[in-house]
Amino acid sequence: MQDPTVLFVDDEVNILKALQRLLRHEGWTVLTASRGAEALDLLRKHPAQLVVSDQRMPEMSGVELLSAIREQHPNIVRMMLTGYTEMNVAVQAINHGEIYRLITKPWNDEELKATLRQAFDHYALKNEIKRLNQVTREQNLRLQDMNKNLEGKVRERTKQLAEKHQELRIAYVQTIRALAEAVDAKDAYTRGHSERVGVYASKMGRELGLPKEVIERVYISGLLHDVGKIGVRDAVITKPDRLTPEEYEEIKEHPAIGARILQPVAFLSDVVACVKHHHEWFDGSERGYPDQLAGDRIPLPSRIIIVADTVEAMTSDRPYRKGLKLDSVVRELVKYSGSQFDPKCVDVMLRLLESEGDSFVKKEQKFDIHAFLEV
Ligand SMILES: [Fe+2]
Ligand SMILES: [Fe+2]
Repeated sequence: MQDPTVLFVDDEVNILKALQRLLRHEGWTVLTASRGAEALDLLRKHPAQLVVSDQRMPEMSGVELLSAIREQHPNIVRMMLTGYTEMNVAVQAINHGEIYRLITKPWNDEELKATLRQAFDHYALKNEIKRLNQVTREQNLRLQDMNKNLEGKVRERTKQLAEKHQELRIAYVQTIRALAEAVDAKDAYTRGHSERVGVYASKMGRELGLPKEVIERVYISGLLHDVGKIGVRDAVITKPDRLTPEEYEEIKEHPAIGARILQPVAFLSDVVACVKHHHEWFDGSERGYPDQLAGDRIPLPSRIIIVADTVEAMTSDRPYRKGLKLDSVVRELVKYSGSQFDPKCVDVMLRLLESEGDSFVKKEQKFDIHAFLEV
């Protein structure tokens, strides 16, 4: 930063000399000029913070000079040094905002120095304000830029996350499917059973107007409903003849075994109860198992699954019989509506069978998880 510099303009050389003498120990650079044109010339070569000008000078008056300086060097603090006779002009100049202060001739030395010091401070302050404004403006621009970038990044990340999330869910469903297939494979006659029960149950869920995440739970519960058969002896599961009462008791263990298998899996926590209760009877009678729950106490997915399960089992071939026709299935559903089955679930199944007919129970269907998650 340059030295504090003040330029005095006066046509009386004695005054300029007196001022130079007065200020020589202040540590300021003191420039002088005796004409307006000379002053403007000097300022182009030598920057100054303050200009103090006389009013009455030949060629160019003080007011004219100061307004030219205002044009060319708007930062310079302008002052007027004037005798009482030119007071009117000076006051006018102040009122028009042309000058910062007025110093009268003859001046008081200490007052003059104090005024100049104030003027230098004023200059510094104005510059500092300007600098801070500039910094603020630049920072605002940078911030705007950063915000724009950030928004873009957040958008992109959110999209990536959503994609990852979907990939994970698909992988998760595929894993569950593999498990369900392994269970069904224990018996040649039940191949694809779990997947189809899941599909039928999810269609019922949609027909019931359930929210998407519940439909997904219904489907997954359908896939896993018989997972407990892993813990039942193959000889019992694949036995082509009628089961003995003891063997039937063994089979009846599968919902509870399934629940125990799934219990430790955190992301299946809301599926456990649905699996456990898929053989409860709606009327709460002891034909249901394991807990003889009734009505609403049975999870809705379980009430859906028992209907889907019945339709799937009845329409599939068994060692001892061919798959049954839909009218027998409908009769069975109607007969047990309200006792084994939730009538609401029977109704939606009847509606679906009515509208879709035999294609509803065709064997080679799979739940379209991609389509389901995308919509
Ligand atoms: Fe079952
Ligand atoms: Fe089943």
